[in-house]
Amino acid sequence: MKALTLISVFTSLILQMSCVEPACAAEKKYIGPLPCAGECHKEVFDTWKSSKHATAFGSLASGAREKEKKEAGLKPGVDYQKDKSCLPCHVTGWIDGGYSFENPDPYLQGVGCESCHGAAGRWNEPHQKKDLENRKRHLKQKGQREPFKGKYVCVGCHEEDTNPYKFRSPPGKTDWTEPKHAASYHALK
Ligand code: HEC
Ligand code: HEC
Ligand code: HEC
Repeated sequence: MKALTLISVFTSLILQMSCVEPACAAEKKYIGPLPCAGECHKEVFDTWKSSKHATAFGSLASGAREKEKKEAGLKPGVDYQKDKSCLPCHVTGWIDGGYSFENPDPYLQGVGCESCHGAAGRWNEPHQKKDLENRKRHLKQKGQREPFKGKYVCVGCHEEDTNPYKFRSPPGKTDWTEPKHAASYHALK
């Protein structure tokens, strides 16, 4: 029995190691914000946690944000968490291997780290190796994004045409693409 267990453990390890997308469903594309909540990015995580991005899924719930919904011609009594026309901008990784009705991962609710920094399933591990050669380029190949390189990350969701709400710049900022003060991006209230 013991030998059998060992063999199956080894087999699954080998399977995991040889995991190639898209054949391998076990490999997660999105890992959620918790792996980033440790020592390295604790401060960022704590600021983000109470931001509007982090709680964006909650705003879709029936009864939440009544006033704003009425103003936008939406029905406050409707459960928009089940409405797939809302989810692309209010969860992490919709239609991209992240949050879905089949995988309603609570850690992928809201606009998470990966909504702006890219799905981290492939880059989180190499990202932690400080001595990696060509580190940045390597991480980019694995899907890490640099949200400060232009506004394209933000306009994916913040666009007047598709958004029932008008875009507003972050408080106190006239140019929200200005590549400074990361903290202000993480604390967007
Ligand atoms: C995945 C979609 C998505 C991305 C990417 C995104 N946002 Fe947002 N953002 C939202 C949603 C949804 C809300 C509203 C959350 C709520 O209030 O429930 C929001 C809220 C905000 C707010 C608060 C607005 C208010 O009404 O007070 C600001 C400011 C903001 N985002 C700026 C940015 C900036 C700057 C970027 C790029 C660095 C960005 N967002 C990227 C979806 C996104
Ligand atoms: C294309 C992306 C996108 C889609 C689709 C989308 N939203 Fe949003 N939503 C946003 C952004 C961006 C904000 C923040 C707007 C701001 O304040 O500038 C927001 C804000 C909100 C807010 C907070 C109110 C406010 O004024 O800040 C509510 C509530 C909301 N959305 C509900 C919905 C509902 C319900 C749907 C589906 C019917 C939906 N959204 C679809 C991007 C989107
Ligand atoms: C709405 C988009 C958005 C979300 C969500 C977001 N970030 Fe960022 N992040 C940015 C932008 C934009 C910058 C670059 C700002 C700059 O150049 O100063 C940045 C910079 C950073 C940096 C480098 C600068 C610093 O402050 O240390 C780290 C680390 C980081 N983010 C981690 C995270 C983590 C961890 C999360 C989730 C808990 C997260 N981010 C969520 C947009 C976002």
